[in-house]
Amino acid sequence: MKVTLIGAAGGIGQSLSLLLKINLPVGCELCLYDLNPSTPGIALDLSHIPNKVKVTGYSGSDSLISALENSDIVIITAGIARKPGMERSDLFNANANLIRNLMSSAAHSCPNACFCLITNPLNSLVPLAATVLKQAGIYNPRKLFGVTSLDIIRAESILSQYLQRDIMPGEIQVIGGHSGQTIQPLISRVSGHDLDESEIRSLTQQIQDCGTTVVKAKAGYGSATLAMASAGMRFISSLIRGLKGEENIVECAYVEGGSPYSKFFSQPLRLGKHGWSEAIDPAPFDAQQQRALDAMLPSLREEIALGEKFCG
Ligand code: 2OP
Repeated sequence: MKVTLIGAAGGIGQSLSLLLKINLPVGCELCLYDLNPSTPGIALDLSHIPNKVKVTGYSGSDSLISALENSDIVIITAGIARKPGMERSDLFNANANLIRNLMSSAAHSCPNACFCLITNPLNSLVPLAATVLKQAGIYNPRKLFGVTSLDIIRAESILSQYLQRDIMPGEIQVIGGHSGQTIQPLISRVSGHDLDESEIRSLTQQIQDCGTTVVKAKAGYGSATLAMASAGMRFISSLIRGLKGEENIVECAYVEGGSPYSKFFSQPLRLGKHGWSEAIDPAPFDAQQQRALDAMLPSLREEIALGEKFCG
């Protein structure tokens, strides 16, 4: 299996490269690509970790096709990250063209790959990527994912600290999208607590604000990279287990066509041999969740339309 990481020299990219080299199954090829000329050096550096994951590295626009060819999974972290004071949506103008061009090359070089997008604003760029793949005539919605696992691990970590107990993977679902109020953790579903509405509201806000808090705390030197890389690794590991035929692998991700609430939506997905095989409807919602969902759907739909319109 060939796993290609686009944006490998960036903050998320370098951390995720390391995690992939260490954790990919034996026999996988890890291919790193970035415009940055250090990328072959990053691959060389990683190749000194002795295991049976082969690493290759490419840089510069002329090498993009070679990096993408024969990929089974393409992960995209490339693009500009937030600075203090910016919302994820402020990145649209900076990253939309880049994602359009990368997806267009990927559509021609590895049309059957699973595409996993990390670049922000995810709520708009996944629909944009879908439009590019549709225009190329190779779109398979089961194989295009916006990686929202960072919201899951943040919810696990914040709840675990608040409830003073471990929160196991799968215990908390985060649905919707990946920005502000579109991030909807289903906290009341977690068993064994008696949190009231105001505690749930405050924990929800904390989870929604995590990205912005990290941007502020990094004081102009970037946004979340390390937890994002860890979340990305978790999603890719599950995706590979599904692709290899393991059953009952469930992860939340932002995809098209799995939800009655919005055209693109993040929810639990069963992962299978050909991408996601089943979207698990997170309903029924309690009154607080339903209100939050109703309040955020208009902005999620606007962000989706922005991405879709970009490619005409
Ligand atoms: C975040 O939530 C990078 O979007 C990412 O921090």
